[in-house]
Amino acid sequence: MDKFKESRRIPSAGPSITETEIELVSKAIKDGWGPKMSYYIDEFTEEFSKYIGMNYCLPTSHCTDAIHLAMLTLNLKSTDEVIVPDMTWVASAAPVIYVGAKPVLVDVDPKSWCITADQIEKSITPNTKAVVVVDLLGNMPEWDEIIKVCKKNNIVIIEDASEGIGATYKGKLAGTFGDISLFSFNATKLIQSGQGGMLCTNNEDTYKSAKLMSHHGMDKPLDGVGKYYWSDVLGYNYGWTNIQAALALAQLRRIDELLSYKKWLFNKYDDGLKSIPSLVLSPSEENVNHTYWITTALINDYGILKEEFKEILDKNNIDIRPIFYPLSAMPPFKNYVQKNMDKVNPVTYELSKYGVCLPNGNNLDDDDVEYICHYFKKALGINN
Ligand SMILES: Cc1ncc(COP(=O)(O)O)c(C=O)c1O
Repeated sequence: MDKFKESRRIPSAGPSITETEIELVSKAIKDGWGPKMSYYIDEFTEEFSKYIGMNYCLPTSHCTDAIHLAMLTLNLKSTDEVIVPDMTWVASAAPVIYVGAKPVLVDVDPKSWCITADQIEKSITPNTKAVVVVDLLGNMPEWDEIIKVCKKNNIVIIEDASEGIGATYKGKLAGTFGDISLFSFNATKLIQSGQGGMLCTNNEDTYKSAKLMSHHGMDKPLDGVGKYYWSDVLGYNYGWTNIQAALALAQLRRIDELLSYKKWLFNKYDDGLKSIPSLVLSPSEENVNHTYWITTALINDYGILKEEFKEILDKNNIDIRPIFYPLSAMPPFKNYVQKNMDKVNPVTYELSKYGVCLPNGNNLDDDDVEYICHYFKKALGINN
């Protein structure tokens, strides 16, 4: 492995920037002002809406903001509960607390790492108003069963598709299952624009309510008649920028290429790590077309914790990301959980100890993957 001695540091994520991105962003910097101050935001919103097939799409500065807006549209009371998987990025759950409601953190499926209909059903109380279903790490849950349970119990589905863009369940795109669906375009996601998010829905009232709150509660008159700078309700400043939207637009136009690259990378990892007994990368169910946005691995058979594993690879210039900690283990959620959550949500706690995310940058080549696989195996004590 001497040939790798001079290898660059391999980051956990990275963009694919081509002339398409450079041209559109340069245009936005030059002309995206004054009368065109929202031109690229509007273009992206229109093309995204066509791609995803949802009637109403509201761009936001982050997906976290979009989730906050989604929660605001539900008008939740302090006794209301929202079910959220314990295994997800903190932003899937934090907005439930922002609006003063209670997150109920439930376990996930050991194979898909996503929430299940059973877990939702077991956690329903008379106070349950909504569930946040996360298309985790490019994967998707068993949606048919989830929808059945939610319909039966009159529960709103908020689909956090931040990590799932491009994935399909029974041929239907991630982000089309929720009453409200959310996407992220931050600097690690499939479509990267630095920061950015989107709220999508087919419900006009939900859209109008989210839109109003995304801009200080102001409903700017489109016909020029009426009051400018007038807040009907207290709102937020969750608008996006033209320049970021231009970058996202260029990426959206290349989405098939970006998705193909992720499959290529997954197949390379799968091949490079196949000599590791019992290692399964990014498992999914047969109804799902996984995007492999991030290739994941569970190293529980090797007696090494994710943090130790990360440290070893760090020393070899590879930035491997550990999987999330259980939300229920972290201080912001301590008022909403009982003791011994490791016994309540055992799958989440096991995944959290041993789950790792392989570098998923859009700019890795064959040599990088070979280098990563070499040190990945070495860290597990595998020498072939
Ligand atoms: C599952 C999930 N939900 C929400 C978010 C929040 O996205 P943003 O960074 O755009 O606020 C992320 C981003 O990392 C995520 O992975």
